[in-house]
Amino acid sequence: MSTAPLLIEQDKIVVIDFGSKHNQLITRTIRELGVYSELHPHTVTGEELKSMQAVGVIISGGEEENVYNIDSSVLDLGIPVLGIDSGAQFILKHFGGSSELPANFSTIETDSTGDNVKEKLRHFVENICEAEASWSMKTFIEIEVEKIRSQVGDRKVLCALSGGVDSSVVAALIHRAIGDQLTCIFVDHGLLRKGEVESVVDTFSNQFHMNFIKVDARKRFLDKLTGVTDPEQKRKIIGNEFIYVFDEESAKLEGIDFLAQGTIYADIIESGTATKEVIKSHHNVGGLPEDMDFELIEPLKALFKDEVRAVGAELGLPSEIVHRQPFPGPGLGVRVLGEITEEKLAIVREADWILREEIAKAGLDREIWQYFAILPDIRSVGVRNEKRSYDYAVGLRAVHSVDGMTADWARIPWDILEKISNRITSEVEHVNRVVYDITGKPPGTIEWE
Ligand code: XMP
Repeated sequence: MSTAPLLIEQDKIVVIDFGSKHNQLITRTIRELGVYSELHPHTVTGEELKSMQAVGVIISGGEEENVYNIDSSVLDLGIPVLGIDSGAQFILKHFGGSSELPANFSTIETDSTGDNVKEKLRHFVENICEAEASWSMKTFIEIEVEKIRSQVGDRKVLCALSGGVDSSVVAALIHRAIGDQLTCIFVDHGLLRKGEVESVVDTFSNQFHMNFIKVDARKRFLDKLTGVTDPEQKRKIIGNEFIYVFDEESAKLEGIDFLAQGTIYADIIESGTATKEVIKSHHNVGGLPEDMDFELIEPLKALFKDEVRAVGAELGLPSEIVHRQPFPGPGLGVRVLGEITEEKLAIVREADWILREEIAKAGLDREIWQYFAILPDIRSVGVRNEKRSYDYAVGLRAVHSVDGMTADWARIPWDILEKISNRITSEVEHVNRVVYDITGKPPGTIEWE
């Protein structure tokens, strides 16, 4: 990120990434105060800040001293500047260590409590910057709808709908702006959970009446996966096949100029701030090749995940889509361990459905970040109706996490686990054992493959 992208044209507080791990939290906190805020790398220039309509700047450093530098013209703009931790030290050093700073400069140390920091941020934003509190999802939708209309004119847009939160909200937003000029392609690869295909079809085709193409590619994916047991190989096959299917379908359409993508703010920040290595390497299924002949529309790229959900709810998407838990692009393909067969998919789907039902009944569905069933490639001995059985074991995984990078296993009450286990062994054929995964990440990953 050498040049700073302009995401939303309105007064904003710019948070400069000076190495703090709380940058995203600070940016979000300011938005929760109703003031639009963007995070930019420490390489941002004073010139760029001016063109971004920054009404205040926060230099957000970590607790340790760091080696970054900041374009000194950033400090000469005359707008309020707040330094946090090593950002504060940077400012003090800039003014020769003097404790008498010019009036538009202030500093905070975060060794005080979290509440205090929040209050100080509020003071900076409201009283010092006097920033207008005009950021809301309602106004975001109004502004974006106008932007999309003027960008697209009377041309056409294509959207690859996966049923996940981001692509669903993109589709609903663009549909609000241009209606029938949008076409959505939904590829059913046969690796979704129980009820998901129906929910997507019902929402977008029956309720929103979109131009909606559902491609039944179940057999095609399963054929390609026959005999494949290596997880990375499976991911590659599923990812590539998705692109082939999408390409074929989009080639049948005429006069499409734009491709809508559900890029969100985290994708932009994580794929390159100047102070962090990129850690995440998951290649998303639904990731489309870069050489496609379309102009991109990415209307959610300024939003945090919770803002994306709020936009979705505002646009009338059902709660099951707006609050959908993270789901890997390769879907059940990486939850059936070893070779994927119809029979195994059916087992994991039913077990997963029971788990989801019971978690929702217990009121834990918003509390646990991700929960699902896995079918390991093992069978074990059991008894059923006084006879020996030799059947599958099902694994259950439920984790608390913020971003999937680390996770803690969820302490689901035992009586709920017991109920889930009893239901799975009695309602799902060929399962005689249920195990609960009590591994954190690290050392485990969230998925088993
Ligand atoms: P792991 O298993 O790496 O998962 O701890 C972290 C988060 O990423 C999801 N995940 C994937 N998402 N494609 C995706 O789009 C993938 O291949 C993939 N593998 C894991 C996982 O569900 C969890 O939320």
